[in-house]
Amino acid sequence: MNDLAGRTLAATFAHAPEPDRLEILRDALVALDGDGRIARVLRADDAGHAEARTEVSRAGTLVTAPADTLVLPGFVDLHIHAPQYPQLGKALDVRLEDWLQRYTFPLEAKYADIAFARASYTALVGDLIANGTTTAVYFATVHQEATRLLVDICLDRGQRAFVGKVAMDNADECPDYYRDATTEDGIAGTRALIDYVRSHPNNRGLVEPIITPRFVPSCTDAMLDGLGAIAKECGCAVTTHCSESDWEHGYVLNRYGISDTEALDGFGLLTRRTVLAHSNLISPTDMERIAARGSGVAHCPLSNVYFSNAVFPLRAALAKGVRVGLGTDIAGGPSASMFDSCRMAVAASRMLEDGVEPSLPPETRGRPGSRIDFRTALHLATAGGADVLDLPAGRFAPGCHFDALLVDPRAGPGNLRRWDDDSDEDYVQKVIFGATRANIATVWTEGKARTAA
Ligand code: GUN
Ligand code: FE
Repeated sequence: MNDLAGRTLAATFAHAPEPDRLEILRDALVALDGDGRIARVLRADDAGHAEARTEVSRAGTLVTAPADTLVLPGFVDLHIHAPQYPQLGKALDVRLEDWLQRYTFPLEAKYADIAFARASYTALVGDLIANGTTTAVYFATVHQEATRLLVDICLDRGQRAFVGKVAMDNADECPDYYRDATTEDGIAGTRALIDYVRSHPNNRGLVEPIITPRFVPSCTDAMLDGLGAIAKECGCAVTTHCSESDWEHGYVLNRYGISDTEALDGFGLLTRRTVLAHSNLISPTDMERIAARGSGVAHCPLSNVYFSNAVFPLRAALAKGVRVGLGTDIAGGPSASMFDSCRMAVAASRMLEDGVEPSLPPETRGRPGSRIDFRTALHLATAGGADVLDLPAGRFAPGCHFDALLVDPRAGPGNLRRWDDDSDEDYVQKVIFGATRANIATVWTEGKARTAA
């Protein structure tokens, strides 16, 4: 099962190509072309299934997954702070603005040391792949060398990634020891990283550069303007934080008298290729603007618990036509597993729907119509994220990259059990709520197994 390029995988597949729609392809055949893209999908009851199976079996290109295993699309994690991995699970008891100054900026400053960066980024990329993350959107740090190293590690390990040199030059909000030396430096550094990724000899499209103003508070107007101009000129992807918390949302309102969304739009940073992290406090008008620009949102339900003061109104955003995927927000969120993000996305939506203040009457306690279930969580973590990035991935369909993971209830010391009366749909739900890294037996990108040895 190591290299499926040019082969056909016989397995049970499950994917969620749209919100609220789970599709289970029991005993199906997925044929890959030589580049690891899906050439053909044949369901068990499709005409020609039996003949196709006999044919590939005779040709010696049939690969059969073990019984009771399930193949899911690989996870697309839309929001990761790569340098924050060493503080995963730490320092979650302070407010965002204190967390940044007391813990996060000092940690990120350490990536001036390339040996430290190598150890940390190697561990992170290996762990994320083992957890089933086949596409990652990374904020790196302000440093050139360490950020290039992250690009190299993704290419080496075969993880699809968007890598951004973080831009932050506002001396009022960023410490002396950790910021771009000048605005020009930050802009030149962003251009240099774009050139590095685009001209990398080993990069055949697996890694893309992403323009990464940290967030409005950490950037001067000149920086935001300059990065908006690069986005227009290069057509690159863009990512930043948007209306994450009361403090951050209020800071932007105070600085410009308009919302974060409107401000970013004014700087040319709201494009079809923009990923806005969090966006918890966006208004219906902001949603319309985001939808009109075609930008997407990285919903980060785990980190929102600790830093955001509110639950992202996911259903409202989807209803307005905003494209949404999920992000772990390592290390604002304390888990590297997109399964955990799925679980929290479901839980947060239920709390928003019912409300959380017990002294209020049930009729006014929550926001009706807010809930999602495991189907939509799976969608957001896979096809939804891929759609935000305009990537042909996240679903089992011809033309898509075969980026996928094999869940095996018997692999490792996991807690996942399948009982006789579990339907296929029950089993997928159990996987979303109960699978751990131990149950992920194989992870592929471009049809090649990439799981850590
Ligand atoms: N806003 C600015 N920087 C950060 C960060 O590193 N994490 C989170 N969650 N929010 C931010
Ligand atoms: Fe973040």
